[in-house]
Amino acid sequence: MFQHTIVRTPCKNVLEGITSAPELGKPDYEKALQQHACYIEALKQCGVDVTVLPANDEYPDSCFVEDVAVLTRKCAIITNPGAPSRNGETAGIIDAVKKFYTDIEYIRNPGTLEGGDVMMVGDTFYVGRSARTNAEGIRQFGEILNKYGFECVEVPLEKVLHLKTGVNYIENNNLLVSGEFIEKECFQKFNHIVIPESEAYAANCIWMNGTVIVPEGFPTVLKAVQDAGYPTITVDTSEFRKIDGGLSCLSLRF
Ligand code: GLY
Repeated sequence: MFQHTIVRTPCKNVLEGITSAPELGKPDYEKALQQHACYIEALKQCGVDVTVLPANDEYPDSCFVEDVAVLTRKCAIITNPGAPSRNGETAGIIDAVKKFYTDIEYIRNPGTLEGGDVMMVGDTFYVGRSARTNAEGIRQFGEILNKYGFECVEVPLEKVLHLKTGVNYIENNNLLVSGEFIEKECFQKFNHIVIPESEAYAANCIWMNGTVIVPEGFPTVLKAVQDAGYPTITVDTSEFRKIDGGLSCLSLRF
């Protein structure tokens, strides 16, 4: 169960966030703020406290706090984002993390790693080797995890930005799985809830203490999650989608 979450208010420069989908247009800032407020309410409904960090205009993507740290039940790992425009974001998370953790580890150059590439399943951490997370980053991450008794499983990515863009664990052995991850050997032991290509964005749902938060506007995924027995909350993330952001990217949950 999660007790805590950390989020960061989107900054005005969120309009300049990295995107692979410019055809969706730029985020509307006011709408992004409203959606972020609804997201915070959804987290609170799931019984966690929410630490809200202030907007940081220096980093357009800084509301995607998931990428700058991996918070386990034993230690915090400050990452080293592979996107050059995001690399400095880690400095802004350390003080917040120190309020909750004494054991803090770091991914260091030349290793890169982003939290969106890390999926926790109990004491096993699946890590996507992606354009943002490199082999050295995964090596360092595995070494840290092993020190705390955790296991690290590398998953090579072919198409998507982050591992959790396309695959997300929602407990009870259930995995939301899309595209390139459907056939991956390392995920065959899970019950697959297969996400249709037309709703691929909604592979990125988050399990929050028994409830699953689902992005608004994806009826097939919503029904599949409900049919699997979960209560759900929907949150509109249309403005974050425009800059490749999903539900998980917007918080650290621990
Ligand atoms: N815009 C989110 C990311 O590229 O990290």
